Amino acid sequence: MSEKSGPIGVFDSGYGGLTVLKKIRQQLPQYDYLYLGDNARAPYGNRSFETVYQYTLECVNLLFNRGCSLVILACNTSSAKALRTIQQKDLPQLNASLRVLGVIRPTTELAGNYSTSKHIGVLGTAGTIASQSYPVELHKFFPDVQVFQEACPMWVPLVENNEFNSIGADYFIKKHIDNLMQQSPLIDTVILGCTHYPLLIEKIKKYLPPQVSVLSQGEIVAQSLRSYLYRHPEMEARCSKKGTCEFLTTDDSENFDLHAALFFGKSVQSKHIAL
Ligand code: DGL
Repeated sequence: MSEKSGPIGVFDSGYGGLTVLKKIRQQLPQYDYLYLGDNARAPYGNRSFETVYQYTLECVNLLFNRGCSLVILACNTSSAKALRTIQQKDLPQLNASLRVLGVIRPTTELAGNYSTSKHIGVLGTAGTIASQSYPVELHKFFPDVQVFQEACPMWVPLVENNEFNSIGADYFIKKHIDNLMQQSPLIDTVILGCTHYPLLIEKIKKYLPPQVSVLSQGEIVAQSLRSYLYRHPEMEARCSKKGTCEFLTTDDSENFDLHAALFFGKSVQSKHIAL
């Protein structure tokens, strides 16, 4: 593992993290990035704590072995189920100078500022919702908010299977939005707690009352990374700066390239990597 400079690693179970990488690159184009999608084993959303942890750790190790000193888990499910263990147990053993950051903390640090009613809704995968990470983290920063959650287990498969624009998708989107809003009609802020969900944002807004703000994470995470690099010049110095962006997938690269453009906003050329 290198002490030299290298790309910033960005990881997701599949394509969703590309929505975050897109915003990070818009704000911080000077750095090099290495994206890894574990498409062969996605989705992670319904998997056990132990499985998500093992899979995430393997992927993080791969990115470290490829020269990354800093890895962003651009996946809420991994951030909820694996991040803390990796930070507290694995990194001190592997190499204490390496860093892994998630997407839940930057989101919860800000979300309370958007809400007047202090009733916040969270939409996420079954794993993220069951982990209770959002209520726990939100209450650290905003002790007076009430948090209402809804697991949306069909949403990632709809996106991964390119069915998110179909009429069938509307049924599942309306169903979960209605379930969330029935928990409290006072909800005025909804967090998209899954990096796949920005692709569904138009339909999500369609079924939410118009006064509800919808927070997607790309810009929030990009802003938070910018601030992290400013506050940690020793890590910033270890991020190489040629403006490159490479993509790795654990599944078929042609298939990855076909779908990735939808999430990333432009075409990509990935390489297959075996774990
Ligand atoms: N994109 C991931 C997230 O933010 C979830 C996708 C999955 O279920 O694998 O939670």
